[in-house]
Amino acid sequence: MIDQFTIEKIQSAAQIEQVVSDFITLRKRGVNYVGLCPFHDDKTPSFYVSPAKNICKCFACGEGGTPVHFIMKHEQLSYSDALKYLAKKYGIEVKETEQTDEQKQMQSDRDSMFILNAYAQKAFTSNLFEHLEGKSVGLPYFHERGFRDDIIKKFQLGYSLDEKDAFSRQAIKAGYNPSFLEKTGLTVINENQSLIDRFRGRVMFPVHTLSGKIVAFGGRILKNEKTAKYINSPESEIYHKGNELYGIFFARQAIVKQDRCFLVEGYTDVISMHQAGIENVVASSGTALTQGQIRLIHRLTNNVTVLYDGDAAGIKAALRGIDLLLEAGLNIKIVLLPEGEDPDSFARKQNASSFYNFIQEHEADFVRFKAGLLLEEAGNDPVKKSQTVTEIVNTIAIIPEEITRLVYIKECSRLTGVDEGTLVRTIAKKRQEILLQRKKTLYPDPEADYQQENQAPENIPDLRETPLPEDNFNFDKTVTLDKHEKNILYYVIRYGEIDMTNVKSEYEKNEPPKKEVNKDDSIYVIEYIVEELEHDDLCLTHPVYRQMLEETFLKYKEQGFRAETYFKNHIDPKISKIAAELSTDKYIESKIHSKYKNIQNEEEKRLKDILPYVVINYKNAVLQNTIDELNRQMQKEENIEQNSVLLKQLFELNEKKKQFALYLRERIVTKM
Ligand code: CTP
Ligand code: MN
Repeated sequence: MIDQFTIEKIQSAAQIEQVVSDFITLRKRGVNYVGLCPFHDDKTPSFYVSPAKNICKCFACGEGGTPVHFIMKHEQLSYSDALKYLAKKYGIEVKETEQTDEQKQMQSDRDSMFILNAYAQKAFTSNLFEHLEGKSVGLPYFHERGFRDDIIKKFQLGYSLDEKDAFSRQAIKAGYNPSFLEKTGLTVINENQSLIDRFRGRVMFPVHTLSGKIVAFGGRILKNEKTAKYINSPESEIYHKGNELYGIFFARQAIVKQDRCFLVEGYTDVISMHQAGIENVVASSGTALTQGQIRLIHRLTNNVTVLYDGDAAGIKAALRGIDLLLEAGLNIKIVLLPEGEDPDSFARKQNASSFYNFIQEHEADFVRFKAGLLLEEAGNDPVKKSQTVTEIVNTIAIIPEEITRLVYIKECSRLTGVDEGTLVRTIAKKRQEILLQRKKTLYPDPEADYQQENQAPENIPDLRETPLPEDNFNFDKTVTLDKHEKNILYYVIRYGEIDMTNVKSEYEKNEPPKKEVNKDDSIYVIEYIVEELEHDDLCLTHPVYRQMLEETFLKYKEQGFRAETYFKNHIDPKISKIAAELSTDKYIESKIHSKYKNIQNEEEKRLKDILPYVVINYKNAVLQNTIDELNRQMQKEENIEQNSVLLKQLFELNEKKKQFALYLRERIVTKM
């Protein structure tokens, strides 16, 4: 457990733009920063970082929060591990109280799996350098492949002893739970319940996440036997093959620095290239590239160079990845190595500069690559030639950026001899087809399409734009209570400690006070809300919201208390998360800061008009819920007498609903 004082120290030291930019390339936009969202498949930058508010938010998928939330989500860490991560980054010493057995137990499965994997890596590495068997078969294997010891250590390579359960026994003896051995896949439990080491007798390649945690292992046999050359960890709670790239942890900085990423196929390709001095390289590990892997690269750079073997399989693999990469908006170059070489073997014959020279001389964009490949095959056959053009055209049509498409169209025209105009028209048509298809898969039925577009915004109330309603009381019956509760919380967090009778507009601020404000006249936002709820015996159903309301009510008169700051730095991550979410203003998007400020100001000035509306809306939703429930009961109730009791209740509630509407209207009129 980390003490409260340290938590506050960490939270005030952590600056959101610094924390986020360790993982994403950010560009300045006005007072904020933007980048591609790491939490969904983002094609245009939707991820906003606000240094002023010290929060981040994706305006497409909604993810975000304080620096701690970002790290929790991005690095898949628990709250306390995220704090420790930030403490380390900012050089803050963490004093921890000893964990009780109970707390240890409560640590999530995921944490336990990461811890076990870290333990396994150390055990395998120690086998390699210290165990007789490792030293006599494992290490020589790597040495024969030409790997230097410093590189072996850097990549934390290892060796798993050639015994049925040597590792499993060792881990259990060290206190690790067999269920996690099985979950991580390090151990296979057979039908007789005996434990078998998955990787026995293999050299080991740990797979690291972007932040360096081990999610999986690959194990290679030493000799060329009949069994699979590589065995990999199975998919698990912490390992989704399609979301990881081998080498990304070691390549991260080089990729950003050089603004380019080399993509290869295998573990050994990555390692040998590093050894040759080329560090911006990752591997898709033999399978077809996935969206998740592309997203990982895209966060660091826009430029990918695919480096595959010059044989048929390599060409096929290169072709497979192209469309996905282009569709993600990446610039892609392709380099085929000389026949019979893979990046591993090639790198061992080169140094960094001769390797780079080769790449520079041989890299082709995909149009040149495809044209070169296919046109040669087609020869003078006009049908085959037109098929080639169609193939290239189809790929160009995938590219999201128009300018980029035009560049490729020019090149395609030059290489194939088809005139640009024809290509432009064909591609435009193809592109429409693609967009239509995409739309269909997104919104399969047009009704849903319509609803999607007309849905009310989810959490942040948008009363600012709407003029206050005169006779617009057709409350939305379908919205849940939660939305209304969230609405109320929004005002508590933003304005809880503010006296809404005493908010001055900009020009009023410059004038001398007209008269001393009578203390009895003041109504603080939190007071107003609490009183309104108590008046009708209402209580927020969401326990966290309730707690936040209560805490504000306890503290709002304290000197310097600001609900927004207080909750954003709250010890309970559930609370700080909600606070961060609700304090993100949709107008953060606005490029013009002054406009944003004005809108917020506007809202503050109109609090006394807006709040009654918000509260009544909430009350009405509660009422509606009760009414709906009564209706359901009535439909089920067979007993006529009981039924008439329900009917009477229903009638009363409906009366009350009418009163609400009336009451609200009067309030608005008198308060204005
Ligand atoms: N791979 C795998 N399982 C296999 C074969 C391959 O997971 N049975 C993955 C590994 O990640 C491997 C990559 O596919 O690194 C590329 O395969 P391949 O080119 O066959 O292996 P190399 O990386 O060249 O490995 P080596 O040089 O040791 O043969
Ligand atoms: Mn190889």
